[in-house]
Amino acid sequence: MASRFNVVAACVAIAAAPDALRAQPDQQEFRLVTPPLSISREQIRPPADALPVPDGFSREQIVHGDRVFHGEAANGQCSVCHGIDGKGTANGNDLTAGMFVWSDGSVSQLKRTILHNMAVAPGMDGDLRPADIDAVAAYVWAISHRSP
Ligand code: HEC
Repeated sequence: MASRFNVVAACVAIAAAPDALRAQPDQQEFRLVTPPLSISREQIRPPADALPVPDGFSREQIVHGDRVFHGEAANGQCSVCHGIDGKGTANGNDLTAGMFVWSDGSVSQLKRTILHNMAVAPGMDGDLRPADIDAVAAYVWAISHRSP
């Protein structure tokens, strides 16, 4: 209930503010309630050799997907938007939370999402060949299935 009290207190404070202050709201100090999603957080690259491997895929594919994701193979651009740690930036969402907007998070559906991205924005994700797409889809599955 502390937060509700704070809201009430803030309303009382605004109501009690001098008329001049309320008449010029752009001159009031602007303070964010929560910090914006920060890309300046410490972004730790997940260890590709310790990530889980989805059924039907190999460790080599996870390692290759990690390289694609981080721009070390196939000119992959994923980490530019989704973060080195995959936890997102202002330009791409968190891929590690295990919750996906566009699929159930299975490798095959992640692959479909990536193919769709590539169809609507050719070249934006990198120069991906089929083997790169399989690997990076398996990698996204892996970073979304890490044990805490
Ligand atoms: C130019 C920035 C950008 C790049 C590069 C990029 N993405 Fe994304 N990606 C986005 C944004 C933004 C969304 C969210 C789109 C939406 O919700 O409509 C997204 C969505 C996704 C999703 C779906 C997430 C969900 O919740 O369903 C996956 C999976 C994904 N990206 C993987 C990748 C992979 C893998 C790469 C590299 C091959 C990549 N992205 C490169 C910006 C980017």
